[in-house]
Amino acid sequence: MNLKDKRILLTGASGGIGRHLALQLAGHGARVALIGRRLDALQTLAAEIKTDTGQDAYPVAADLGTHEGRKAALDEVRRSLGGVDMLINNAGVVDFHDFSEQDPAMIDRIYQTNLMAPVQLTRALLPELLEQGSGRIVNIGSTFGSIGFAYFAAYSSSKFALRGFSEALRRELDGSGVGVSYFAPRAVKTPANSAAVYQMAEATKMHMDEPQAVARFIVRSITKEKASAYFGWPEKLFVRINALLPGLVDGALRKQNRIMARFAPKS
Ligand SMILES: NC(=O)c1ccc[n+]([C@@H]2O[C@H](COP(=O)([O-])OP(=O)(O)OC[C@H]3O[C@@H](n4cnc5c(N)ncnc54)[C@H](OP(=O)(O)O)[C@@H]3O)[C@@H](O)[C@H]2O)c1
Repeated sequence: MNLKDKRILLTGASGGIGRHLALQLAGHGARVALIGRRLDALQTLAAEIKTDTGQDAYPVAADLGTHEGRKAALDEVRRSLGGVDMLINNAGVVDFHDFSEQDPAMIDRIYQTNLMAPVQLTRALLPELLEQGSGRIVNIGSTFGSIGFAYFAAYSSSKFALRGFSEALRRELDGSGVGVSYFAPRAVKTPANSAAVYQMAEATKMHMDEPQAVARFIVRSITKEKASAYFGWPEKLFVRINALLPGLVDGALRKQNRIMARFAPKS
């Protein structure tokens, strides 16, 4: 797929991965609407995109955790881009926590941002993409959306659901001209992860990638129109082993879980 002049709605543009996605997509000639809640960060990014690539980008501040916020964002994006060719559902919330003591409000936020926002934005845009007979929905998942991780129960399950949604919709839209992709990074060095995650990752020797490299992998996977792609070795192998032999992975993760328990916040 050639990204030149593609009209892209990118959520989570003010975040660690989103910022690099926006810069790289604009570098390919795409016109990107930048969605997040922090308007100042989006405006700074739009200025950087203009300087670096010469492309106009369109900051849109909205809370995607609510119906009103999603509607306002879509109205504004349609006004500024004149239509949408691609929706990239990248906004997300991560919370590393002992589930028995995780804040119920945080659990709501995780599902609203990681699952309901992508599903409802897709539902709202799909009729116009089908009418155009072309388009792509790109959902940013996680390795944790294929391997259920202790102390990430709400986060992991939100990404499992997003992966299932992507697979089902891809099959439903087969032959329509509208594609659906699911791309899964492993841990990434961004503000999504708390200090406790960084400490736990060091203690468990968990790989943490640079957001720029992850964005490159996502943009490359988009241009190749891949249905799904997983970042990092050996994680992509573990994803397959977990699907076939989850009991084996239970055993393999037991020691790591004990280390993770030392770092997982409790109250
Ligand atoms: N970092 C990792 O280790 C990792 C690993 C695998 C997958 N991922 C996935 O990659 C994606 C990007 O993560 P990241 O690491 O770049 O996270 P990040 O740096 O924390 O950025 C999160 C982005 O989501 C936006 N956002 C959060 N809640 C929102 C809401 N209610 N309404 C609108 N925007 C909202 C934030 O915007 P504002 O702050 O401006 O509201 C920000 O732009 C997520 O889907 C995440 O699950 C991350």
